[in-house]
Formats: sequence, C-alpha cells, structure tokens
Amino acid sequence: MQKLIFLIVFLFSSSSFAEELSKEMANGRLKVQKVCVTCHGMNGQATGAGNSVIIPNITAQEKNYMVARLKAYKAGEIKHPQMSVVAQMLSEQDINDVAEWYSKIKIQIFDPERKNWRQYNK
Ligand code: HEC
Repeated sequence: MQKLIFLIVFLFSSSSFAEELSKEMANGRLKVQKVCVTCHGMNGQATGAGNSVIIPNITAQEKNYMVARLKAYKAGEIKHPQMSVVAQMLSEQDINDVAEWYSKIKIQIFDPERKNWRQYNK
C-alpha cells in the first residue's frame, strides 16, 4: 500500500512539473538534449554510448557540486578529454541550467536491509 501511495505522489508531482517548466529548466532541458544526452542520458544515467562505464551517473546530483565541476572543467582547473570540450560549449547560464535540470530529477532508493523504498530528499 505504501508503495502505491509513493507511486501516485510521484506521478502526480512529475506531471504537474512537466506542464510548467521554469525558464532555467526549459533551457537546461534543451542543452541537455543537445549536448549531454548521448553520454549522461536525459535523466543522468550513463548511456550505452562509447565508454559508458566511466561516465558518472549524475541523476539528482547536488546542483552546487555540478556547477562547481562544470566551471572547473571550463576554466581548465580539471582536465578531461571529453568534459573539457563539453564545458567550453556552455555559458555560465547554461551551466546553471543543466545543473538545475539534473538536480531536480526525483529518485527513490531501495533499502536492502529494511526492504523498502523511500523518496530521496535533498
Ligand atoms: C562525450 C561524453 C560526454 C558528454 C557529451 C558529456 N559528458 Fe559529462 N562526463 C563525461 C565523462 C566521461 C565524465 C567523467 C570525467 C572525469 O572523470 O573527470 C563526465 C563528468 C561530468 C560531471 C562531473 C561528475 C562528477 O561526479 O565529478 C558532470 C557534472 C557532467 N559530466 C555533466 C555534464 C553535462 C551537464 C553535460 C552536457 C552539457 C555533459 N556532462 C556532457 C562524459 C560526457
């Protein structure tokens, strides 16, 4: 029963959310569709493209963390053959918006000890 309630809450919140995307979420989604999707997927799960095992999952990752990483790639403070190139394609606003997109994805976590699902709350 509890699982069912979770599902209903989840479906309801995700559908109302899709109807009214903020400006930054809409731009974030557009940039993710154009630039990030082949490697990280729309939902932040590394896809089958190329070297997927070394592409980190960024679903529901903290926004501030992603902004910091993307800025560091862009500034050359951390270097990676793919992400350094990707970050150059993003403006400061884009960095904020793609991080907003991935951070707003809601997930549920299965607790193997208690054998239950719970919403992940940041
Ligand atoms: C060509 C494949 C590719 C594309 C396209 C790509 N990424 Fe990545 N991304 C990677 C890989 C591989 C890493 C791991 C880099 C490393 O080890 O430093 C990574 C790392 C990251 C990280 C850091 C994760 C962490 O835990 O440190 C973030 C944030 C990120 N990507 C966001 C994005 C966003 C946002 C986009 C689109 C604007 C994007 N990436 C496009 C492959 C890609």
